[in-house]
Amino acid sequence: MKNHRLTMFLLVFVTVSSGYSLAHKGATGIVKQRMEAMSDIGKQMKAMAAMLKGELAFDANAIQDSANVIAGHARNIPDMFPEGSNNKPSEALPVVWSRWDDFIKLGSKMEASAASLAKAASSARSMAGLKDQIIAVGRSCKSCHRDFRQAK
Ligand code: HEC
Repeated sequence: MKNHRLTMFLLVFVTVSSGYSLAHKGATGIVKQRMEAMSDIGKQMKAMAAMLKGELAFDANAIQDSANVIAGHARNIPDMFPEGSNNKPSEALPVVWSRWDDFIKLGSKMEASAASLAKAASSARSMAGLKDQIIAVGRSCKSCHRDFRQAK
């Protein structure tokens, strides 16, 4: 299960490193809105990661709600990134718009993985069956941030 430990580390890293951002200080308009949406996504991931680590009790309904919240924000991604909207303090990189199709696809991927997690959670009785799907959602964050968000 070495491989699993690694994915766990990645997941925790993704949620923790994306959670501490206070960068939306000073943001306005659509940039502020999407930073808040991303922060909310981060909050949902953090709660699910805490259940994975056993710090929070397993709660299938809470996981389902979190997954639905993430899927909902994911659906808004195309509208949350109007062309060229990366003035300070935005951390969006210009490649968002030069590689728009790739960017949107990663948003759809996050939506699909969150939707399938929500579905699985609706009948899950333990964490075991949901682990891989939570990790898949966590990976979708990383795959987009890697190319489209300014590194810290
Ligand atoms: C399709 C691309 C994409 C996906 C998928 C994505 N993000 Fe983001 N995220 C971004 C971009 C771009 C920014 C920077 C937005 C800005 O500053 O204008 C960002 C910013 C953030 C921020 C910082 C918000 C702030 O207040 O500055 C957090 C937290 C975050 N994302 C969490 C997540 C988590 C957790 C996931 C996965 C569940 C995720 N994101 C999935 C593109 C994505």
